[in-house]
Amino acid sequence: MKGLILSGGRGTRLRPLTYTSAKQLVPVANKPVLFFGIESLVAAGITELGIVVGDTRAEIEAAVGDGSRFGARVTYLEQDAPRGLAHAVMIAEEFMAGEDFVMYLGDNLIAGGITGLVEEFKQRRPNAMILLAEVPNPQQFGVAELEEDNGDGPVRVKRLVEKPPQPRSNLALVGVYLFDRNIFDSVKRIQPSARGELEITDAIQDLIDRGFEVHPHKVQGWWKDTGKLDDMLEANRIVLDTMPLTGAGSARLDAASRIEGRVELGAGVELIDAKVRGPVIVGAGTRLEHAFIGPYTSIGESCTLAHCEVENSIILADSQIRDVDRRIDGSLIGRGVRIVKSKLKPRAHRFMLGDNSEVEIV
Ligand code: DAU
Repeated sequence: MKGLILSGGRGTRLRPLTYTSAKQLVPVANKPVLFFGIESLVAAGITELGIVVGDTRAEIEAAVGDGSRFGARVTYLEQDAPRGLAHAVMIAEEFMAGEDFVMYLGDNLIAGGITGLVEEFKQRRPNAMILLAEVPNPQQFGVAELEEDNGDGPVRVKRLVEKPPQPRSNLALVGVYLFDRNIFDSVKRIQPSARGELEITDAIQDLIDRGFEVHPHKVQGWWKDTGKLDDMLEANRIVLDTMPLTGAGSARLDAASRIEGRVELGAGVELIDAKVRGPVIVGAGTRLEHAFIGPYTSIGESCTLAHCEVENSIILADSQIRDVDRRIDGSLIGRGVRIVKSKLKPRAHRFMLGDNSEVEIV
């Protein structure tokens, strides 16, 4: 079995970060979201991976390389434009060479990995397997309608609709799919949707219409599509809550500094009169001075946080936050950002923000 990871597309809902960076590389608990997907494929024994890339190919390639650090072999499959998930499958046909495969959306996080699913697929041998999760906002996803369970065997999928305005169930399609070779005919048979994309949802509906077996599997644990800020922060909270954190390691703490709860501090992290209340992860070389870092915060490498308080936030590498009076909460701060107090007159807020930035002042 092979793996197909989708890491093209445009992360419009995470702008401005995604003007300069692929959305699949935005970190959760200091690890790019994409790496979680690669790791769960490898853990399920799938090491031959095709990664679909678009405009951000160079960056994805620089981060993932040939895959050897994950114990995988990666082939990059270039998509000329984000023409849809089914289009991504279409361009992967040659790479798959007739084998079954798992398609994994590079911005999805799913608890507990996919090993059990892959085993189930191999045992039951359907033509496709889809993962479903109950959500409060199904109109933002592909939605499945299931045939009533009459107690004699597995439930069947009746209909799949992409982002329906009036969803007929609260079962969203999760971004992990298992297919055999029949999907390659279906992706060629469908037409672009209203948003101009070849939808995988329509391709799977085509499998159903042609009488192929499509098994639904409800996700037991949590699942997140990290496409938006709130989802990123929630994923960060869940991952920090559930992952093992390695402790203070070789970090240097002065006598006035305190650590409470679970933390992971990278090499060369320095705390000067700082209080860290976990779960918190801090990247190597970051300095915390007269600062409070509260629960559910991930801080990247080589940052400086001084005379400030931060919680429930993601801060990327090389950023500086100094002398901010109010606590920073629920924030996603990009690479190399400076938030500082100025002594210049007149006293004013001074901003230099990228397009589509968001600042909330209280
Ligand atoms: O997250 C689950 C949802 O993912 C499903 O419920 C939907 O049925 C499915 O269509 C998909 O919806 P999204 O609108 O969230 O997909 P998005 O455009 O965010 O693309 C998902 C991933 O695939 C993302 O990492 C970018 C990548 N991609 C996307 C397109 C359209 C590609 O590599 N190529 C593409 O052409």
